[in-house]
Amino acid sequence: MDKKVYIETYGCQMNLADSEVVMGILGKQGYSLTHEMNEADVVFLNTCSVRDNAEQRIHGRLGNIGTLKQKNSNLVIGVLGCMAERLRDELIEQKKMVDLVVGPDEYRRLPEFIDHALTGEKGIGVKLSRTETYEDIEPYREEGLSAWISVMRGCDKFCTYCVVPYTRGRERSRTLASIVEEVKSLSERGFREVTLLGQNVNSYIDGEKDFSDLLAACAEVDGLMRIRFTTSHPQDLSDKLLYTISDNSNICNYIHLPVQSGSNKILEGMNRTYTIEHYLGIIERARKIIPGVSFSTDIIAGFPTETEEEHQMTLDVMKNVRYDGAFMFKYSPREGTKAYKMEDDVPEEVKSRRLTEIIDIQQKISYEINQELIGTKEIVLVENKSKKSDDFFAGRTDDNKTVILPVGNDVKIGDYVKVKITKATSGTLFGDFVSIEDVYKKEPTLFVD
Ligand code: 5AD
Ligand code: SF4
Repeated sequence: MDKKVYIETYGCQMNLADSEVVMGILGKQGYSLTHEMNEADVVFLNTCSVRDNAEQRIHGRLGNIGTLKQKNSNLVIGVLGCMAERLRDELIEQKKMVDLVVGPDEYRRLPEFIDHALTGEKGIGVKLSRTETYEDIEPYREEGLSAWISVMRGCDKFCTYCVVPYTRGRERSRTLASIVEEVKSLSERGFREVTLLGQNVNSYIDGEKDFSDLLAACAEVDGLMRIRFTTSHPQDLSDKLLYTISDNSNICNYIHLPVQSGSNKILEGMNRTYTIEHYLGIIERARKIIPGVSFSTDIIAGFPTETEEEHQMTLDVMKNVRYDGAFMFKYSPREGTKAYKMEDDVPEEVKSRRLTEIIDIQQKISYEINQELIGTKEIVLVENKSKKSDDFFAGRTDDNKTVILPVGNDVKIGDYVKVKITKATSGTLFGDFVSIEDVYKKEPTLFVD
């Protein structure tokens, strides 16, 4: 019988990509995906441990799902992903409704675990691997324009606040050939954008080939396919990478470069392995080599020992760089990490206030940057109908800004369209149709009348 699987995914894009791998594995065994939890035979939560609030949400969700199990005792419930290792005993022993707990490197065993669960046997697979990359698994992807491709797994950086090296293990890369093949097959299916994913993509390595070589090889597959990537660690971002972005018209002019803090003392406490001067130097070089490049970042407020002055340094860096966007968090101690042993000495209300100041500054900067775009023309990849109205399309620019434009003028989803920006908020640009672009050209993407 055809069994239906429902997966809810939390956390980063890597986890979203992993859920597609999970469905790729299960699809081969005759399982199909459902978007309705009520009609599922198997319910998975693909979990995230990066901050405590992510974990709390998942605990709450497990409580809800437990009620489904009371109605249907054959339902198989599984916890996948980053929480698996840490919580396996608690989930299996105390919360009896969970049938399997499987970490990020053991998804190949899922069919076996589900079979056992159906006979009442609990399954635990939480070993981490030094080699597993799932590169032979074709991820299950519904039709669309954008796809994620996981190019490397794990992280060897050991930032002191971060659980990833413990939940996802050591760095390992897929072969360049397998990734290029995947890009080709996505291009043939009509996809228009791929995002190459890894916790630290700049450490990608396949023999002599580094991440720049991989990007260039992916960009060559299809000139109409936008290539994005995330996440870059500032320590490993080379000039070669910057030139590769600059030389290839379809590699987006957009770099996510987490700074975390503006203070060298805090960066050292975080084991980030760069100074703020080094970081700002990269931004400056990138702006020289790639005209018009945009940056986004991650910032943590209230890391142990952070003083008011050090917090100000973070605000100063934000004002200096003027990021297009930022993911901003309060420091959250994670068991097992180095920082967990440090005293979490910034009081909660101070963390909250600092975070609010960080968010406010970013909003103001994003608003100002977007206002400056009014009157310019941007190339937009039309991705879908706007969430708010069927009369509008939503798309994105090369530097990842959402643009809303009216339906009409023979524009179809998947087209590249030149749009004149007429209005802007901190999160969205609005514009009028100018022309459909036959060829995706990077230069000039931006010019003022
Ligand atoms: N507390 C707060 N933020 C964290 N991040 C990672 N670990 C923690 C933590 N313990 C943030 C970092 C990272 C992003 C993915 O999540 O900013 O870049
Ligand atoms: Fe969360 Fe990190 Fe795991 Fe992604 S890798 S799901 S951010 S803990």
